[in-house]
Amino acid sequence: MVLHVVLVILSLLPLLEAQNPEAANITGTAITNDTLIWLSGKWFYIGSALRNPDFKQEAQKIQAEYFYFTPNLTDDTLLLQEYQTTEDQCFFNSSKLEVQRENGTLSKFEGAEEHVAHLKVFMKHRGFMLAFDPEDKNNWGLSLYANKPDTAPELLEEFLKAVKSLGMDESEITYTDWKKDMCSQQEKQHEPERKKTEEGP
Ligand SMILES: *[C@@H]1O[C@H](CO)[C@@H](O)[C@H](O)[C@H]1NC(C)=O
Ligand SMILES: *[C@@H]1O[C@H](CO)[C@@H](O)[C@H](O)[C@H]1NC(C)=O
Ligand SMILES: *[C@@H]1O[C@H](CO)[C@@H](O)[C@H](O)[C@H]1NC(C)=O
Ligand SMILES: *[C@@H]1O[C@H](CO)[C@@H](O)[C@H](O)[C@H]1NC(C)=O
Ligand SMILES: *[C@@H]1O[C@H](CO)[C@@H](O)[C@H](O)[C@H]1NC(C)=O
Repeated sequence: MVLHVVLVILSLLPLLEAQNPEAANITGTAITNDTLIWLSGKWFYIGSALRNPDFKQEAQKIQAEYFYFTPNLTDDTLLLQEYQTTEDQCFFNSSKLEVQRENGTLSKFEGAEEHVAHLKVFMKHRGFMLAFDPEDKNNWGLSLYANKPDTAPELLEEFLKAVKSLGMDESEITYTDWKKDMCSQQEKQHEPERKKTEEGP
């Protein structure tokens, strides 16, 4: 009986923690022109804690990744130009994200499916977080991005706090390894193409 109660309490713990006000802090800040301007430029994907098994599997393949954001303040989009190292090879990809300013979210269409992520910026620590499905504990996840590959300890601290506030464990985090980056060299070949896209037709 006692054991049963303990087990029930243990199984409730992640739920309770998720209702802690800190979890609410992960979402819900509106995106402004200032946010979008601040997001412009180069970012490094540091790591993520993902419950969705498909996303998690995808993330585990990523050895290193950096990308450029180019916002358009008029049509509320972000051009995303990614340089991802997977299986020791560099893959370049360019896509558009939609910005839902009031909701504080970014979204991306993949085929007919729209993936939504809540944006949380840490301007002071020069990094930001994306939260996926924060209302669904079987699928939720968090990713961390920073303006340099060696993350500031304060930024990492914020990320760990957020991961724990969602009832996830540090051991659920998959980190990238900048030493494995294969793209920096290759980017020079893409550079003219990237510039062209930024300037538009
Ligand atoms: C939530 O965020 C606000 C502003 O960033 C901060 O003042 C507050 O302490 C945070 N609350 C928690 C529980 O972390
Ligand atoms: C954001 O920037 C765009 C483009 O410069 C401008 O048209 C718009 O009025 C700005 N919005 C606010 C709230 O300042
Ligand atoms: C931003 O979006 C508007 C509306 O779609 C478009 O007319 C404009 O050319 C875009 N600006 C840039 C710099 O791509
Ligand atoms: C590039 O992005 C498209 C659309 O998101 C995706 O279908 C494709 O698999 C991506 N390619 C690589 C190499 O990541
Ligand atoms: C903002 O979020 C609400 C509630 O999830 C949703 O109904 C609405 O469509 C969202 N707005 C935008 C612009 O995506």
